[in-house]
Amino acid sequence: MKVLIDEQSIKNRVAEVAKQIDSDFANKDFILVCILKGAFMFTAELAKNIKSENVSFEFMAVSSYGNEKRSSGKIKIVKDIDVDVQGKNIVIIEDIVDTGLTMEFLVGYFKNKGANCIKVCALLDKKDCRKVEARVDYCCFDIEDRFVIGYGLDYAQKYRNLPYIAEYTGGNNE
Ligand code: IMP
Repeated sequence: MKVLIDEQSIKNRVAEVAKQIDSDFANKDFILVCILKGAFMFTAELAKNIKSENVSFEFMAVSSYGNEKRSSGKIKIVKDIDVDVQGKNIVIIEDIVDTGLTMEFLVGYFKNKGANCIKVCALLDKKDCRKVEARVDYCCFDIEDRFVIGYGLDYAQKYRNLPYIAEYTGGNNE
């Protein structure tokens, strides 16, 4: 395992991104939608840094991977949000945007539900791996095409608890 982004660097960068979100949504109600499971730690760190009194949080779980390292492309909602998003401002919080398939699905989903404004916030962006177009409005770090774990990200449901982001160098299951 090789550490790519240490805990302090993540904290510093997440604080900057939280500030940007605060300023873009000044005096507006908005909902941060945490995409489980991967974005749980990132969302918590963002939440601690957002100062707005107009923010609320929702949690949604999608699955596309099983225990593989690349998206199957078949995205399934495992847990939906509990509120009506018609006319609401949404910021989707993802751990990582890779092929873009999950984000394409999620943005389409919230558009269909009539959200007013849909922004995407990702801890990590693997830009070179896109199969479909997926815009990231708030990105903490761009990374190269390598499989990463930690800070919420897993390999076969493990390593989510690491407080930093590391490259997974264990056995290959692709
Ligand atoms: P996409 O649909 O290919 O963009 O993949 C998005 C999802 O795949 C993310 O929410 C992660 O759950 C997972 N994922 C993609 N790359 C990695 C990685 O390097 N480590 C762990 N999970 C990943």
